[in-house]
Amino acid sequence: MANKAFTLTDPESGRTSELPVVEGTLGTPGLDIRKLNGEMDVFTYDPAFTATCSCESRITYIDGANGVLLYRGYPVDQLAEKSSFLEVAYLLLYGELPDQGQLDEFVNAITRHTMLNESLTKFFDGFHYDAHPMAMLTGIVGSLSAFYHDTTDIRDPEHREIFARRMIAKMPTIAAAAYKHSVGQPKMYPSNDLDYTSNFLRMLFAVPAERYEVDPIAAKALDVLFILHADHEQNASTSTVRLAGSTGCNPYAAIASGIAALWGPAHGGANEAVLTMLNQIGDVSQVPKFIEKAKDKNDPFRLMGFGHRVYKNFDPRATIIRGYCHQVLEHMGMENHPLFELAMELERIALEDDYFKERKLYPNVDFYSGIIYQALGIPVNMFTPMFAIARTVGWAAHWCEMQNDPGMRIGRPRQIYTGSPKRDYAPIDKR
Ligand code: ACO
Repeated sequence: MANKAFTLTDPESGRTSELPVVEGTLGTPGLDIRKLNGEMDVFTYDPAFTATCSCESRITYIDGANGVLLYRGYPVDQLAEKSSFLEVAYLLLYGELPDQGQLDEFVNAITRHTMLNESLTKFFDGFHYDAHPMAMLTGIVGSLSAFYHDTTDIRDPEHREIFARRMIAKMPTIAAAAYKHSVGQPKMYPSNDLDYTSNFLRMLFAVPAERYEVDPIAAKALDVLFILHADHEQNASTSTVRLAGSTGCNPYAAIASGIAALWGPAHGGANEAVLTMLNQIGDVSQVPKFIEKAKDKNDPFRLMGFGHRVYKNFDPRATIIRGYCHQVLEHMGMENHPLFELAMELERIALEDDYFKERKLYPNVDFYSGIIYQALGIPVNMFTPMFAIARTVGWAAHWCEMQNDPGMRIGRPRQIYTGSPKRDYAPIDKR
């Protein structure tokens, strides 16, 4: 807390309120308005939270104007190039990079907790074959709380740690099982001799009747994608996890609420929506028509995978993924695939267009991730579950941070009421 403060004056009564400035280590400071309502009898009004900090956090820093993303202070491009997803998971959870012994212990613990309780695997059978994997993910993760009573004392640091590790370990198994259910194939058990992403690819694509060799380039590309999606400070799904978690609910229930929030096309559902959009556009010749549709205020169509609430410069994750995108396409021999040519043309035209330039609308992480997933043969309805696997780390880290905060209270926003003034009940024959 700095000494600086803003003074707010009510022009009618002359009452004033001192609003202290809260400084972080980096970035824009905040005004502490907690006394405002008591002193001035006003609320602040900020629908969609465009100017509101909901908490203090040490996990992730974003500078949207300059396209900077730091995990615990480390630039995400360095982590994507030099680290691994599980090392990044350790960093996000514990705050520091692990030494070799710490990393080995962590990786071993995650690897050995990937199996699901057999009773839980039966839950999938209750879903219709065409259920979206995100619907299954939400339900199955929510039901984990019925299995793990050993991790529901949210005040116990050991319980919190077991929960975080268990969640990270089991998420790929749950996501792969959801996919297998939707295509009617047997669910694959995890394989402890494989690394995190190779194991996931095997559970997704292998069948018991055949040998399956994991493509190391695909596993590496996925590992980088997971690093880039691991956390993004107070985004919609993480804020949902925090708000649910602030009630003291079971942590698995809080993560399930985050998964539900992630699914929307304005958030994690955008990667799936990008592919749907590219298929809808269909051909390079149609790009100008769809660019015009995106600019037309009377048309609900938006360029999916473009724009971001915080990044008003290039999304640094998109820059890294773009490079990988080209590598993966080349590796898969797909660089001339019509869908990818279409995506590149869309990106080129949009980046030159004044509408997008003036509004600072650049391709975001999900524009390219959808293309890589497609090139890796991952089914479109699994794109958002891929995001959910990676973001589980961020959700768990934020939930743990929040529970560890002695000042934590239930989150409870207020509103400006615009409904009817008080009125009396009328009997039905008098209405
Ligand atoms: N296509 C066309 N126009 C757009 C787009 C787009 N993708 N995104 C924003 N705009 C326009 C808006 O119409 C608005 O124009 P106006 O000022 O003339 O009214 C202006 O840009 C600002 O847009 P807002 O909707 O106010 O920006 P907001 O911060 O609320 O929304 C969001 C950000 C949801 C990401 C938005 O850009 C969007 O819908 N993008 C497409 C969906 C998407 O890719 N989501 C993934 C986000 S990244 C993630 O979650 C991992």
